[in-house]
Amino acid sequence: MGQDACMEPLSSMVGTFLCKICFLLIAGVCSGLKVTVPSHTVHGIRGQALYLPVHYGFHTAASDIQIIWLFERSHTMPKYLLGSVNESVVPDLEYQHKFTMMPPNASLLINPLQFSDEGNYIVKVNIQGNGTLSSSQKIQVTVDDPVMKPVVQSHPASGAVEYVGNITLTCQVPGGTRLVYQWRKNGKPVCINSSHSLSPENNTLWIAPVTKEDIGNYSCLVSNPVSEEESDIITPTIYYGPYGLQVNSDKGLKVGEVFTVDLGEAILFDCSADSYPPNTYSWIRRSDNTTHVIKHGPRLEVASEKVAQKTTDYMCCAYNNITGRRDETRFTVIITSIGLEKLAQKGKSLSPLASITGISVFLIVSMCLLFLWKKYQPCKAIRQKLKGRPESEYRKAQTFSGHEDALGDFGIYEFVAFPDASGVPRMPSRSAPASDAVTGQDFLGTIYEVIQHIPAQQQESRDVSLRNLHLGMKGSVRPVLKPS
Ligand SMILES: *[C@@H]1O[C@H](CO)[C@@H](O)[C@H](O)[C@H]1NC(C)=O
Ligand SMILES: *[C@@H]1O[C@H](CO)[C@@H](O)[C@H](O)[C@H]1NC(C)=O
Ligand SMILES: *[C@@H]1O[C@H](CO)[C@@H](O)[C@H](O)[C@H]1NC(C)=O
Ligand SMILES: *[C@@H]1O[C@H](CO)[C@@H](O)[C@H](O)[C@H]1NC(C)=O
Ligand SMILES: *[C@@H]1O[C@H](CO)[C@@H](O)[C@H](O)[C@H]1NC(C)=O
Ligand SMILES: *[C@@H]1O[C@H](CO)[C@@H](O)[C@H](O)[C@H]1NC(C)=O
Ligand SMILES: *[C@@H]1O[C@H](CO)[C@@H](O)[C@H](O)[C@H]1NC(C)=O
Ligand SMILES: *[C@@H]1O[C@H](CO)[C@@H](O)[C@H](O)[C@H]1NC(C)=O
Repeated sequence: MGQDACMEPLSSMVGTFLCKICFLLIAGVCSGLKVTVPSHTVHGIRGQALYLPVHYGFHTAASDIQIIWLFERSHTMPKYLLGSVNESVVPDLEYQHKFTMMPPNASLLINPLQFSDEGNYIVKVNIQGNGTLSSSQKIQVTVDDPVMKPVVQSHPASGAVEYVGNITLTCQVPGGTRLVYQWRKNGKPVCINSSHSLSPENNTLWIAPVTKEDIGNYSCLVSNPVSEEESDIITPTIYYGPYGLQVNSDKGLKVGEVFTVDLGEAILFDCSADSYPPNTYSWIRRSDNTTHVIKHGPRLEVASEKVAQKTTDYMCCAYNNITGRRDETRFTVIITSIGLEKLAQKGKSLSPLASITGISVFLIVSMCLLFLWKKYQPCKAIRQKLKGRPESEYRKAQTFSGHEDALGDFGIYEFVAFPDASGVPRMPSRSAPASDAVTGQDFLGTIYEVIQHIPAQQQESRDVSLRNLHLGMKGSVRPVLKPS
């Protein structure tokens, strides 16, 4: 009773659990002995050796250890295979070359494994000591041939037309037992939809009718308990299209189906649609009620100067000669002198008022800047230049203040014009008053010296003369100083 509960556990864990219960309920029967197997199902390959591992342990003093292996198939009587007491093995002579055990190790070696060896193997361990302890385990053994590489065929090999034709994929496996077929598309299991159907074994996949969505890399994955093999991919030929007909161009402006092209530009149109096999394309020009096929092929070049009309209607036709389906798209080409118009628009975009205002502001600012600059900058520079001169020669070197009393205005003035705004003014670092030539002529300058003549020495009236110290003059310079 308690023994039975221990003999057929659902799993080793459950077995252990049941043994613990037994230990509590019927002390002594299960108590010290525990038999375990790593797996209750073992898959073997025909022709190879199969090892059935068994572990057992007990906690009482034992005089005899008995191990018995039995084999049972469904609906048949269990068969004795071999047994042992202590270290001596007593095999069934019928199977003595097939089964091996090395007690006290209870594990069984089956060699070679045959299909007939498939079934349940029961191991029973008896311990003789103070009473008898007994425990057993059952292992299910399956025997299979490994799967050999499957081969997939697609029928018809020539392919099928979308929505019309059907495709049959068959998976053939040269060898293997207990085969389980799985169809895969692009590496994932095929999604079986209403147009798909499978044979009872799943080794044939029918697609009726085929659609563009069925295009892909198909393979057949075949597995059994001991191995798994996948076929090479096969890509059935499915004819479809044309879909998504479009006309595009390298140039010009496309708004809807209207292309606007500059006058004189050649424009290349490209017609494309998704289809297999590739479409044949033809281009048609429509004028009034008549149409002319003007070209075959996916590209059309329109040289706009050759187009008589400014607005021309075209049509691109795509035809799939296998599916027999066609599609066409219309488009209009408008030739404009858009380039010139753009320029004109740019010119107009600045209103005359804005231009005048801009120019005026520029002039005012320029004049102010010039004035300010003249007032401060050259004077400083020239003062530096004058340091070496005798005091007697120049009484003063003063800024131009614009007042009427010329007495205070004697000195040296310089007008400098710089060729561009970005150029940093480069004042001559030193000047040689005696010589008229000065080095460093990146600027255009004229120095005016305003000299007071002493009346006693020269004349009665004040004479203001200008001595022009010419400094590499390149531009036209107007003296701004008007001595009174
Ligand atoms: C088994 O071994 C034990 C102790 O090693 C011994 O007492 C017993 O007699 C042996 N049994 C047989 C059948 O040899
Ligand atoms: C039983 O023998 C096998 C080799 O035949 C060994 O791998 C295994 O560990 C042994 N088990 C025990 C419990 O000694
Ligand atoms: C055998 O078991 C009984 C009861 O389980 C116990 O009373 C007795 O001492 C045991 N004898 C030995 C030798 O262990
Ligand atoms: C494709 O299969 C459908 C239904 O199975 C059938 O009616 C049809 O005739 C088949 N078409 C071809 C071209 O074999
Ligand atoms: C199908 O297989 C071909 C060749 O192996 C590969 O180039 C292609 O990318 C595959 N297509 C998909 C959708 O995986
Ligand atoms: C066939 O495949 C389907 C799903 O792909 C699966 O549900 C079914 O169990 C398989 N049948 C067999 C006999 O393998
Ligand atoms: C175009 O065809 C329509 C009817 O087919 C006709 O009424 C019309 O006069 C035709 N126009 C030209 C320019 O041929
Ligand atoms: C279909 O068109 C292709 C070119 O796209 C051509 O090579 C092929 O011969 C045509 N087939 C038939 C049946 O017209």
